[in-house]
Amino acid sequence: MTAHWAKDGWRAKERVQMPEYIDAAAVQAVEARLASYPPLVFAGEARKLRRQLAEVAEGRGFLLQGGDCAESFDEFSADLIRDTYKVMLQMAVVLTFGAKLPVVKIGRMAGQFAKPRSAPTEVKGGVELPSYRGDIINDIAFTPESRIPDPNRMLQAYTQAAASLNLLRAFSQGGFADIARVHSWTLESTAGAPGYERYHQLANRISESLDFMEAAGVTADTVDTLHRVDFYTSHEALLLEYEEALCRTDSTTGLPVAGSGHMIWIGDRTRQPDGAHVEFCRGVQNPIGLKCGPSISEDDLLRLIDTLNPDNEAGRLTLIARFGAGNVGEHLPRLIRAVQREGAKVVWSCDPMHGNTIKSDSGYKTRPFDRVLREVREFFAIHGAEGTYPGGVHFEMTGKDVTECTGGVRAVADEDLSDRYHTACDPRLNASQSLELAFLVAEELDQRREAQRAAG
Ligand code: PEP
Ligand code: CO
Repeated sequence: MTAHWAKDGWRAKERVQMPEYIDAAAVQAVEARLASYPPLVFAGEARKLRRQLAEVAEGRGFLLQGGDCAESFDEFSADLIRDTYKVMLQMAVVLTFGAKLPVVKIGRMAGQFAKPRSAPTEVKGGVELPSYRGDIINDIAFTPESRIPDPNRMLQAYTQAAASLNLLRAFSQGGFADIARVHSWTLESTAGAPGYERYHQLANRISESLDFMEAAGVTADTVDTLHRVDFYTSHEALLLEYEEALCRTDSTTGLPVAGSGHMIWIGDRTRQPDGAHVEFCRGVQNPIGLKCGPSISEDDLLRLIDTLNPDNEAGRLTLIARFGAGNVGEHLPRLIRAVQREGAKVVWSCDPMHGNTIKSDSGYKTRPFDRVLREVREFFAIHGAEGTYPGGVHFEMTGKDVTECTGGVRAVADEDLSDRYHTACDPRLNASQSLELAFLVAEELDQRREAQRAAG
């Protein structure tokens, strides 16, 4: 049972990475408006996702979570959402083929607006200003006014999230995601790239199977799941004023639920066991993610598991490991063993992005693709050795043809980074890099199944 909890209880706890708003009355006015608005997601959907993640925790599904590092108010269009969604569908197809298991799809979308930062200020040309903290908090322009936290931005974030979610629901339920359209999800910008050839071969095999099934009387008309997908939203629950204002009571269970997204996660910088973010998240019924970086101790992890999932329910908690290539062997085994000793039911997911950010020679923040791949391989190898289940992956990616991470089959070089470097925060995988990664993960999953079969 969850110990006494109230949605504003986080206010009495120590908080980090949150803005200091200047005008308290303006903040309260925004909170009151958000509290009167409809929630963005509904409790039944969050419960359904929890059930699907419980299957993942038991090894009967695989989690694909991906999207922007930070969504942006300026870069907001149907085309952008559609293209990222298409890439996720393609990745899911590739993974389903490799895992032979259902793939649970969760976007870092429709609410991923608030960012923790490594430094409170930023210096450019000798001028020091407060850091940009995501469009829901302040503006990225490098001027003193832009960097002042503005509570009204919460209303714009809500509106943008609602419009994004509306589109995602339409794509998921309205025929766009019909498996018969598997060929139509490729993007023009990347057609012809080597990864796409592989995707087309896979898509052809799927089409053939569908033709066969249709001949046997199985079509989207008879089997609804061929026609639609479940697609969920997620973001880091960083700005707690926003989260509290969108918290609602589930009319079915009478329990609190975050109305801001289906899944919310706690970042690596805000996971203090006694801190404000853990306090808020422990009380809502949504699936919760917990980022685990190199500094997390076994004791802290067990304490967090106990606080966030006191009834040890599968599907409630996803541990998102992000150690950096070369560091996984030092940290993941000790954490896996602690979790196993306690018999804690969790989904283990791999975020190969946040431990692999470097500054390139040309001065851009980037992520070398081979390091991303290496962290994924290490994650799978260690779960193989520990006898535990590598349940999912968590990527920063976009359907836009950006040049933000170096490497990949259509190699992006350091000199190319400036061509299409558009991210508001961390470097993202482009469509062809994302697909390449999906094939690698599918191979890892396939090998795992083979090894298990051989072991009887
Ligand atoms: C993120 O996922 O964008 C992020 C900031 O991650 P982490 O908390 O793991 O650094
Ligand atoms: Co990021």
